[in-house]
Amino acid sequence: MTEPLLRSARWIAADYMARALRPGDAAVDATMGNGHDTERLARLVGAEGRVTAFDIQAQALAQTRARLTAAGLIDRVTLIQDSHAQMAKYLERPPRLIDFNLGFLPGGDKSVTTLLPSTLAAVQAAMALLTPGGLLLVCCYPGHDEGLRELNALRALFSGIRPQEFNILEHVFVNAGPAAPVCFAAEKQY
Ligand SMILES: C[S@@+](CC[C@H](N)C(=O)[O-])C[C@H]1O[C@@H](n2cnc3c(N)ncnc32)[C@H](O)[C@@H]1O
Repeated sequence: MTEPLLRSARWIAADYMARALRPGDAAVDATMGNGHDTERLARLVGAEGRVTAFDIQAQALAQTRARLTAAGLIDRVTLIQDSHAQMAKYLERPPRLIDFNLGFLPGGDKSVTTLLPSTLAAVQAAMALLTPGGLLLVCCYPGHDEGLRELNALRALFSGIRPQEFNILEHVFVNAGPAAPVCFAAEKQY
């Protein structure tokens, strides 16, 4: 049987990452968590590239540091324990791609989740920081209350952006129920 083309919101995000990034690029993981996406990005940008990853939880930094060290990729990654809303303070060059995987740390404290005010501030900062032609990815989880608020607010924000600034797609599995994760992809046009 051939591989399915339509799998999950995260699979769609990973597919965009692979298509958007080239060796030597700069990329941001705005929600590092256990570091799966940080590792994916680090592989894609290569030894000359740079990944800057953010999380507010020390546990996430510890998990990600261990994962990237074991993979031999830690030298191309900067791990920062701060809110992604502060990302402009830390980036040395405009990233080609910024990825948000909203929500809480899998296997961690579910009360520590991304929150609408900082998510909105961070997404707006990310849109300004991207290099021309750069890509923003945001996965939302409307199966919990704050995730639903984030999805609705981001949908409203993105709907108001002029196409001359960004082309924005919302990927929704329309027959998977209202709690199904959603992936936004926004490509900078200027
Ligand atoms: C769904 S998890 C990310 C999973 C991760 N992409 C992975 O590959 O394992 C969301 C993460 O966002 C983090 N987070 C919550 N608020 C944040 C903020 N303001 N800035 C940065 N990270 C935040 C949480 O601590 C959690 O680890």
